[in-house]
Amino acid sequence: MSSDVTVVILAAGQGTRMKSRMAKVLHRAGGRALVEHAIVAALGVAPPERIFVVVGHQAEAVREVAEAAGVRTFEQKEQLGTGHAVLCGESMLAGLGGQLVVTVGDCPLIRPETLQVLAERQRKSGAAAVVLTADVPDSTGYGRIIRDQNGAVEAIVEHKAATEAQRAVKEINSGIYCFDAGEFWRHVRLIRPDNPANEYYLTDMIGILNGAGLRVAATKISDAGELLGINDRVQLAEADRILRDRKTRELMLSGVTIESPETVAIDADVQIGMDTVIGPFARILGDTVIGENCRIGAYCILHDAALENGAEVFAFSMVSSSRLAANAHAGPYARLRMGAEVGEGAHVGNFVELKNTRMGAGSKSMHLAYLGDSQIGSKVNVGAGTITCNYDGKKKHRTNIGDGAFIGSNSTLVAPIEVEGGAYVGAGSVITHKVPAGSLALGRARQVVKAGWKKKEA
Ligand code: UD1
Ligand code: CA
Repeated sequence: MSSDVTVVILAAGQGTRMKSRMAKVLHRAGGRALVEHAIVAALGVAPPERIFVVVGHQAEAVREVAEAAGVRTFEQKEQLGTGHAVLCGESMLAGLGGQLVVTVGDCPLIRPETLQVLAERQRKSGAAAVVLTADVPDSTGYGRIIRDQNGAVEAIVEHKAATEAQRAVKEINSGIYCFDAGEFWRHVRLIRPDNPANEYYLTDMIGILNGAGLRVAATKISDAGELLGINDRVQLAEADRILRDRKTRELMLSGVTIESPETVAIDADVQIGMDTVIGPFARILGDTVIGENCRIGAYCILHDAALENGAEVFAFSMVSSSRLAANAHAGPYARLRMGAEVGEGAHVGNFVELKNTRMGAGSKSMHLAYLGDSQIGSKVNVGAGTITCNYDGKKKHRTNIGDGAFIGSNSTLVAPIEVEGGAYVGAGSVITHKVPAGSLALGRARQVVKAGWKKKEA
């Protein structure tokens, strides 16, 4: 990475064809907003303090994403064209010499390596600008690359302004360039809005630099797919599929087994350790971190989850913002949410929901329970059908269960409540008072047997 590179990411446009109230660059593919992908690629060539996102439509929301990624922004209040967009940053950028890479916020498949190749080409060739291009079978809508006999780039002609002969050109402008920053700022004010759209086209810079006797080169990439620009939701889905494919491939090559990878969705920032096995149709999202030797069953959904080595989540479970310690098990059909923690070797079984609850090492709740706002010690047995009544209609209250306690099946623990270590709660109890250590609490009607009752009825 050269500290001499500045990157401008054009992201001020609305993206009309998305048919959305949300700015195009905020739409997500592969687990990131489109503009985040552009930022990640830019970080491959420039340090964060030299990366600028041009914001316009929904400036605040786009700025938030940029700032969260540690990069800077400037605003283009009116969208008067791609050339105008860069010009809006003149006061911040013109003093920065070296190289100026301009890229777009709606091209999520561009790899950091590609921007590196582009910048290196500009540095070594001494051209005033290098354009990233590709040959595509259908160049409709794109700017065409017009080359001279020596292969240098003479001009970029937008589709609408192109002649028949120019439209036949298959080499297209990606909208991504690397300029010599000095030459860029020296000439940028020569761009005129002399086109039917009345816009300041950045592409005009190519002709302008040529006119000043400077050279413009092109770097053609073989994988045109990398340049896929997102204009509508069909292309968004296509980009999402490609990004997910890249992610599963990368994980498989690093030692993760993924069954039926084409059915699995794993977000870009997810980390998974060696020898972990991911079942079909799993969705592993957000900042989830999974250790080694874990198992994720079919159809599980994990979001911002943390699994230590050897943890297993069986089929059809959901884990969000929750943690499983080493060798803990959850599911099938378990739901862990909002800060649930399953301790080392602890087991949570089918139709058990944990919310904001910590369960200690070796504890078990195997069937049909709701455990909310609770602190559960180690080696506790929570019987089938146990419910913590944590909500009184106004406030949430806590349940504490000490180490080694035994909660009989179908118990109702009315919080705030405490069951101390080693205490027993008889099955079917409604517990409203503290159960001291080692004692047995029974909170249910005593069974009555009416002998001969059937006969009397007859
Ligand atoms: C642009 C190029 C075209 C190229 C194509 C590649 C120009 C004139 N044309 O066309 O040669 O083949 O990209 O996809 O540059 N934006 C702003 N402010 C503006 C206008 C646009 O920030 O005033 C941003 C948009 O949000 C978008 C990017 O710039 O991220 C590209 O703009 P867009 O209108 O999509 O350009 P194209 O018509 O696709
Ligand atoms: Ca575009």
